[in-house]
Amino acid sequence: MSEYDLVIRGGTVVTAADTVVADVAVKAGRIVAVGSRLTDAPEVIDAGGLLVMPGGIDSHVHLAQPAFGGPAMADGFETGTRSAIAGGNTTVIPFALQPRGTSLRESVKEYHKEADGQSYCDYGFHLIVSDPTPTVLGQELPSLVAEGYTSFKVFMTYEDLVLNDRQILDVFDCARDCRALVMVHCEGYDAIRFMTEKLERAGKTAPYYHAVSRPQSVEREATHRAISHAELTDVPIMIVHVSGREPMEQLRWAQQKGLKVYGETCPQYIALTADDLKGLNMDEVGGKYVCSPPPRDHASWEAIWEGIRTGVFQTFSSDHCPFFYEGTLGKLNPKARTSFKWVPNGIPGVETRLQILFSKGVAEGRITLNEFVALTSTNHAKMYGLYPKKGSIAPGFDADIVLWDPNRKETIRQELMHHGADYTPYEGMQVTGWPVMTLLRGRKVCEEGRILGAPGDGRFLPREISPYAAGGEIRAAG
Ligand code: URP
Ligand code: ZN
Ligand code: ZN
Repeated sequence: MSEYDLVIRGGTVVTAADTVVADVAVKAGRIVAVGSRLTDAPEVIDAGGLLVMPGGIDSHVHLAQPAFGGPAMADGFETGTRSAIAGGNTTVIPFALQPRGTSLRESVKEYHKEADGQSYCDYGFHLIVSDPTPTVLGQELPSLVAEGYTSFKVFMTYEDLVLNDRQILDVFDCARDCRALVMVHCEGYDAIRFMTEKLERAGKTAPYYHAVSRPQSVEREATHRAISHAELTDVPIMIVHVSGREPMEQLRWAQQKGLKVYGETCPQYIALTADDLKGLNMDEVGGKYVCSPPPRDHASWEAIWEGIRTGVFQTFSSDHCPFFYEGTLGKLNPKARTSFKWVPNGIPGVETRLQILFSKGVAEGRITLNEFVALTSTNHAKMYGLYPKKGSIAPGFDADIVLWDPNRKETIRQELMHHGADYTPYEGMQVTGWPVMTLLRGRKVCEEGRILGAPGDGRFLPREISPYAAGGEIRAAG
């Protein structure tokens, strides 16, 4: 009998800590050796000239979320995770959203029904708390955290999701007690409503005004408020989808003060601008780019790079939140034509996250290969309680691997995508670096854009308490 099931031979193995030319041996879905002259396997993959990196972990994606009377999401688990593996990812963490007035536990059950047998890659769930009743805070959240749903998100805006300050404090307090990590969407609800009504009265209803209605000051104020609430309740928080200098500097300020405030940013904040929302001539095409917070400007891109380089941000996620563009179910639905406020917020991006960061980050010399791996995989595993099972290439880790061509030049196009949406907001963007093969627990699930895996390959991952939430030491990578 062979010592290994598979050997990936002669590639450049990149982890968050090291870059070495080595072979990687896999047995029963796990990495068992990284070294030289590993041979005894029935299957050998030649990785000469390629990077061998841990599969991407995208800790911020939305799949199969309810529509609240608006347009339905373009991706459920099948198409969303198909798109994920085609983009070099092996784990995603979508959200189980609690519609107001319902039980969080029931919502979790519903999401499991959506995901069971449908996912191409491994997955966990964050919880979205929209209704922090005494039952939710006193019973449901503590028991769900104990069962492996160890992080939850709260919103400071959106009609159906917004929590007031008192509710946020209650959720933070509960998170501290159950050692969960809270992700916070920082945009001020009242300021956005005020701006929206003012713009509508002036007839400024085109998609571009979505960006005008929620400027950086609105994000900065909410970010500061979330940080202050976290300080008051002594709880670590993760500020998600940070869009520019003003909120980034709030995170830096908090971190310098010694507060446990972590940060996430996304491709749209280094690759799109608010001008994209103008469309061709203030027309509806701009709706393709409507997401929240909105993309800003080139100066904001530089601020985000500053935050990435100086460690303000730990994770780079897609915030994949796909809607169709065309049709009555899409961003162009009849109501959305009357005002930007009805255009569903969110854009697809799980399949293009790695290429955009690699291209603008590694290929253009802004970050190292090791930083790339940390930002796209290792730090997600550490932050959300999946380490040391996921997020690195070393004996004992799941053999979740992407083989990556660092020199391949491609143009992002909708026809290359595997998602359910009918467009990509990055259409026509030229990138350097592309996934050649994705392996999930040692099995090829995608090669050269061809899907080889099947729905149901992916397993649910109950997650450990995040060491970032627990205040413990983070174990070293690898
Ligand atoms: O516009 C966005 N980002 N929609 C997704 C929901 C969220 O706030 O993350
Ligand atoms: Zn959000
Ligand atoms: Zn999101």
